[in-house]
Amino acid sequence: MTTESSAMDYWFSIVHLQDSGEQFIENMFDSLGDEYPSIFSVVGERTCALQCAHCIFQAEKSSQALSLSNSLTVAVKTIISQMGANPIFVHEGRMFRPAHLEWLTAVRDLRPDAVVGMIDTGAYLDYATEIKQSDFKFDWLDISIDGTEEVHAQQRKNARSFSLAMEGIGNASRFIRETGRITSLFTLTKINYASVLATCKILPKELTEWHITTISPVRPEISGLSVNDDEFKEAWSQIVSANHIRPVFFRIYVVEDILKLAKAVGKEKFLSAMDDAQVFSCGVSLTIDGVSVLYYPKSVGPNEVFVLDADAHYRMPYSLAYSLEELRSGVSRFGQDIREYTIGKVDDQSQFGVLYANGVDCWRTTFGAKALKSEVAMFQEIHKLQERR
Ligand SMILES: C[S@@+](CC[C@H](N)C(=O)[O-])C[C@H]1O[C@@H](n2cnc3c(N)ncnc32)[C@H](O)[C@@H]1O
Ligand code: SF4
Repeated sequence: MTTESSAMDYWFSIVHLQDSGEQFIENMFDSLGDEYPSIFSVVGERTCALQCAHCIFQAEKSSQALSLSNSLTVAVKTIISQMGANPIFVHEGRMFRPAHLEWLTAVRDLRPDAVVGMIDTGAYLDYATEIKQSDFKFDWLDISIDGTEEVHAQQRKNARSFSLAMEGIGNASRFIRETGRITSLFTLTKINYASVLATCKILPKELTEWHITTISPVRPEISGLSVNDDEFKEAWSQIVSANHIRPVFFRIYVVEDILKLAKAVGKEKFLSAMDDAQVFSCGVSLTIDGVSVLYYPKSVGPNEVFVLDADAHYRMPYSLAYSLEELRSGVSRFGQDIREYTIGKVDDQSQFGVLYANGVDCWRTTFGAKALKSEVAMFQEIHKLQERR
């Protein structure tokens, strides 16, 4: 392999081909440091009108004052101006506020080549007038649907949440550009794993893309919602059927779920799909039973998205599981030292490349190194699985 190899090329050799060695690991993290993310995600607000059963975030108070005192708009402008061509800008939630139009319009003005989208529950419609008055239009809106009406309401812990999502999708065309897209994400849990197919059948016609992802069980309070092997198998069989109705994009971020997938489809089929997999900048793309599966290994996590938190600090993947209060104090509610999640404050002097390089430097010795070990172990376990008879 030449030094031109990407972090994911090294990852593939280390984890799938089991061609391990300290030098490959060093090379992987070295390459990662040169691969700037093309997605810029801003957490505009830390509080939420809902507290869904599966949510990565905890119940938190509003971060609006902190965004203002830390000049979130300045931070957004600083980063977006320095990103490569055609950046993808994501309003990550947790909920839309009219004040966010200030930085959304700034992104449009500064980077006409940016693709600007928002993930939402449909609650953005509460501010339809303000969005209309601003003339701002999204390139895409992703409205989450986690099941049929009853199942969605159970996961979202709110009886009105389903109609809110449907209204959000039904009205989305008024808030996106002519070329805009309306997509939806289904987060797979113990609550909804048996409703994949039924959900697919009731998806509104306006949707251009349907994505399914498994829950990231990053907080102890939600870890019980991950599906077990049998539930995964049932969900997979429904995903395969649903894929005949409309293409499903199945995104996996959790390495334990890769083992569940291998068990569901059989070791031979999984490993053969891995042999044929396409490596992309932050993951591997494989096709199994006709379904497009995208796996994003945690070890290379930082190069997917640059996460700017509501207090204008650049933070590492999965920091969202901690409240802003915990992150700012550096100590979790369980007494853990969590300073490594925070790379630094972003202001008008900040350099995107320097912040990102600092992020990767920190990641390689902490979360990244640990994640790589568990990915290697998980693939070794897959190789040891019994063949299916
Ligand atoms: C964090 S939410 C923010 C936007 C908005 N509040 C919503 O729910 O659509 C973005 C997406 O992440 C999903 N999500 C939340 N917690 C998750 C978790 N623990 N693992 C995987 N996805 C999660 C949500 O279902 C939603 O589709
Ligand atoms: S998943 Fe979205 S709507 Fe539900 S609590 Fe989390 S941020 Fe709020």
